[in-house]
Amino acid sequence: MRIAAGFAALGLVDLVQLYIPRIMKQVIDGLARGTATEAGLIRAGGAIFGLALAIALLRFGWRYLVLGFSRMLERDLRDRMFLHLLGMDRTFFGRRSTGDIMALSTNDLASVQLSCGMGLVACVDAVFMSIAAILFMAALNWRLTAIAVAPMPVLAVLTRILARRLHRRFRKVQEQFARITEFARSTIASIRLIQAYTQEAYQAAQFDRMGREYVEDNIRLAVIQGTLFPFSGLIANTSLLLVLFFGGRLAVGGIITVGDLTAFIAYLYLLTWPMMALGWVVNLFQRGATSLQRIEGLLEERTDIEEPAGAIQLDRVVGTIAVQGLSFTYPRARAPALDRLQLDLQPGTTTGLVGRTGCGKSTLCHLLARFYPVPDGTLLVDGRDVNRLTLDSVRNAVALVPQEVVLFSDTIAANIAFGRPRADLDAIASVARVAAIDDEILAMPDGYETRIGERGVKLSGGQRQRLAIARALLLERPILIIDDGLSAVDLETEHAIIHNIRHFLRGRTCLIVSHRVAPLADADTILVMANGRIVDRGDHARLIERNAYYAGIYRHQVGASRESGGNGGKAKMEKRK
Ligand SMILES: Nc1ncnc2c1ncn2[C@@H]1O[C@H](COP(=O)(O)OP(=O)(O)OP(=O)(O)O)[C@@H](O)[C@H]1O
Ligand SMILES: [Mg+2]
Repeated sequence: MRIAAGFAALGLVDLVQLYIPRIMKQVIDGLARGTATEAGLIRAGGAIFGLALAIALLRFGWRYLVLGFSRMLERDLRDRMFLHLLGMDRTFFGRRSTGDIMALSTNDLASVQLSCGMGLVACVDAVFMSIAAILFMAALNWRLTAIAVAPMPVLAVLTRILARRLHRRFRKVQEQFARITEFARSTIASIRLIQAYTQEAYQAAQFDRMGREYVEDNIRLAVIQGTLFPFSGLIANTSLLLVLFFGGRLAVGGIITVGDLTAFIAYLYLLTWPMMALGWVVNLFQRGATSLQRIEGLLEERTDIEEPAGAIQLDRVVGTIAVQGLSFTYPRARAPALDRLQLDLQPGTTTGLVGRTGCGKSTLCHLLARFYPVPDGTLLVDGRDVNRLTLDSVRNAVALVPQEVVLFSDTIAANIAFGRPRADLDAIASVARVAAIDDEILAMPDGYETRIGERGVKLSGGQRQRLAIARALLLERPILIIDDGLSAVDLETEHAIIHNIRHFLRGRTCLIVSHRVAPLADADTILVMANGRIVDRGDHARLIERNAYYAGIYRHQVGASRESGGNGGKAKMEKRK
């Protein structure tokens, strides 16, 4: 609707513009014949002025309507991209860099918008105007028109050749821009490390090199644009030359009037603009098409975790988890990360999971949280194959504390309440107490309203981990998974927190991955993992007795902490047995 109105206004502008040479023709013919009157001249001048005013108003109208339309189109596309990104899985984000995605959603989106707005406007305008101008010219004298348009096919051929190159080079420019964006992003994200390793000069040099390449690519692109534009002007002027020569002879011979020739040349001028615009439009369109292709490439990426048609939505999950012969290999990995793994987790129980680094603990946690696809029949929640359930029903049942804490540049309260933005301060404070961090929060300058800086730079490692635990607890989901979430907390605190959590969770299912075994001592079951399999299971006492690996790390850790002055946590653990 909007766009139709815009184009209607655009058509009117062109028609009005085309009418002006007719008035000029009458005036000049009048002057030549000596029949012109002063009143007639003033009337013609007034008419031209009125038409010019109409052109100005209509121009504003179509710009407003069509450009507004292109902005809406841009917004729709942006929303679609964003929604698409939100649904993508880990494999996708392993493949695509953030800088790449950022470049697509800024730079490329802008170029699509430009081609749908100005590009489309100029294109329709140019096509309409040239056809109309040629028709008007033909009405005056078709032979002269044929002569005038003769050089134009050359332009069409040249444009075709250049357009393809433009596409290739612009693509390169955009890809380079994406690389620069990613480089800037990752540099800023790791600025502490860069400064600590005094790599500023090296980073700057790399950035400079990328910038230079970008400029070179852009210059190569400019060469094409620079060829197209002046060349259109050259062709237009050739037409003018031909018209002056042949049209002049026709006028001298009295075949056409001087007014006809003047109008003809005025039309030719009107035609010059569309021809010049052609180069520009082709440029815009090629850019827009290239960018759209890049964006479509992103939108076409499918997540590996597809819900089957008719997936069941579980509204209340009890929290029973059964893993049956689950094997999992990362894309392009040589060996499987999980190997025919068997596991059972019951509601109301706490299970510890220990194992050497790289044995697959985090992988298991991520599969339980449905980050990666699993084969049919290998992962059951409440007795149902997760591949028959909606993604949401499983994800909504699991509260995961990932091994790497993610915090937002916001207040402490907002970070804890991330999964439940409407939670009140009481609820937030009570989970902070369970995570044994509320004292430290209250001691901060603004308490729960303290801003923690980007990714929590103002917090200690242990504080960050405990915030992440509090955040997961606040979700009150039936299944809690803590992936090594207390590694930066001292043993005594870790033990206290696990104790609090067990109490807080009551009937829920809890899986705690840890590298330290002492705090897991009162878990109901402890699983020992090696090479992607569960190799032993039992309670603390039993594993100490019969699992050499487990007993070994326990002795090592307890021994080490005794030597370093003993600690209550360990002492308590010993007494408990
Ligand atoms: N995204 C990934 N892509 C490919 N391979 C991966 C990926 N994540 C982990 N791996 C590999 O899978 C194996 C298991 O990794 P995982 O993170 O599950 O170990 P982990 O037991 O959690 O170790 P840690 O105790 O160090 O946290 C490792 O060999 C690791 O290199
Ligand atoms: Mg891990």
